[in-house]
Amino acid sequence: MGLFKRILGICENRPPADAGCWSFADGKIEIALARAVELAQPGGAIRLEGGSLPRRVLVFRGDDGRYHALPNRCTHIAHRRLDVLPGQGKIRCCSIGQSEFDYAGRRLAGSAKESIMPLAVEVDGDKLIVSLE
Ligand code: FES
Repeated sequence: MGLFKRILGICENRPPADAGCWSFADGKIEIALARAVELAQPGGAIRLEGGSLPRRVLVFRGDDGRYHALPNRCTHIAHRRLDVLPGQGKIRCCSIGQSEFDYAGRRLAGSAKESIMPLAVEVDGDKLIVSLE
């Protein structure tokens, strides 16, 4: 990622191509896995935000093949969004501070001093459930 994008906080991970692949109710995000094509392969990710969702969420498939979810908000002062780094087993803030975290949100490096509290995920048939509470 270039410096220009970092200054502006423009990240690589995007909202899902199929905007209707997820919904939010009763503190839980429900994602239809067949429609969230970005999550089909390790390293894929989707940004979920807006609507009734109380905070930005990054949902991703790790290099371990498992699903993970974190609040999409770096703990450093600018609170920028995060990007998955495929093949590196970690995520990185898209700001110039480049804070890095593991899949569980533990801080690894960069300007941030605190870790990110991970969100619980559960596969329920053909759906992925992310709990915000
Ligand atoms: S906001 Fe993430 S490193 Fe500054």
